[in-house]
Amino acid sequence: ALITMRQLLDHAAENDYALPAFNVNNLEYIQAVMRAADATDSPVILQASRGARSYAGDAFLRHLILGAAEEYPHIPVCLHLDHGDQPSTCISAITNGFTSVMMDGSLLADGKSIASYEYNVDVTAEVVKIAHAAGVSVEGELGCLGNLETGAGEKEDGHGFEGKLTREELLTDPDQALDFVSKTGVDALAVAIGTSHGAYKFTRAPDGDILSIETIAKIHAKLPNTHLVMHGSSSVPQDLQDLFTAYGGEMKQTWGVPVAEIQKAIPLGVRKVNIDTDLRLAMTGTIRKNFKEKPENFDPRTYLKPATARMQEVCRERFEAFRTAGKA
Ligand code: G3H
Ligand code: 13P
Ligand code: NA
Ligand code: ZN
Repeated sequence: ALITMRQLLDHAAENDYALPAFNVNNLEYIQAVMRAADATDSPVILQASRGARSYAGDAFLRHLILGAAEEYPHIPVCLHLDHGDQPSTCISAITNGFTSVMMDGSLLADGKSIASYEYNVDVTAEVVKIAHAAGVSVEGELGCLGNLETGAGEKEDGHGFEGKLTREELLTDPDQALDFVSKTGVDALAVAIGTSHGAYKFTRAPDGDILSIETIAKIHAKLPNTHLVMHGSSSVPQDLQDLFTAYGGEMKQTWGVPVAEIQKAIPLGVRKVNIDTDLRLAMTGTIRKNFKEKPENFDPRTYLKPATARMQEVCRERFEAFRTAGKA
């Protein structure tokens, strides 16, 4: 059976660690996460976006994840909806066996317009009421993810808004966070601190001007018992950029969220750290390498196996760095 996110994050808070939440889309991603969790004795959050659900299909996703739980009965597994765009999306996830949902009311359901605070409170509180009645956890999001270097706020497709947002608009307000949690009753709160989705987060190694761990400290001071969530938290390590570009991939030099910065955020209440891009790069870089080095091969297992192993290595590194290892 699957466990809720709340149970996992409560344990993480009691024992001062965080869980990486890996986005999964197919069998190989799930195998990579589960093999790393098994090797390090770590509890697991597997998250599926709306894109993952339509790519794989809800029935396939549910059975793949139940398969993971059956194969590794000693590893607690949570199935979480990433970035639900409206209450109906969260309800369909609950119906399909998800044990946790994110209602992201920071944007309107069109995925393009910044929502009012009142709208965000309303849709999130509505989902909390329904989800909690079904024994399912809820993550909310307050603030607009986006880039403090350029002022580009982020739409759901990862592209920026027209026009610039101010530093204030791009960082979650701690007083509003306190009000939001008390009005909605969310189990976990995603906050905006200068991270964004995808590979291009920063044009230089981030410092406090563009990655605000200080904002997390301020929110934690107001909400010491609320589990905080970092989105856009792939580290985009240089070796994965090099692997991808060495075999024909096109990507300009970029910087992600350093593991060391995430480690600073853990004593400040961050309990869930979202990672998608690093697994995409590990998978695609390894497949590119194998296509180049073994052009005669056409058995997909010959490149999916090393690609899965490279993803597993990323997962193991994060389980160890966030002190998830040994907590299953
Ligand atoms: O929120 C963004 C995650 O990286 C999921 O991406 O919507 O392309 O599946 P996706
Ligand atoms: P990355 O693009 O940094 O991996 O972020 C993933 C994420 O936040 C999913 O919700
Ligand atoms: Na958002
Ligand atoms: Zn996200």
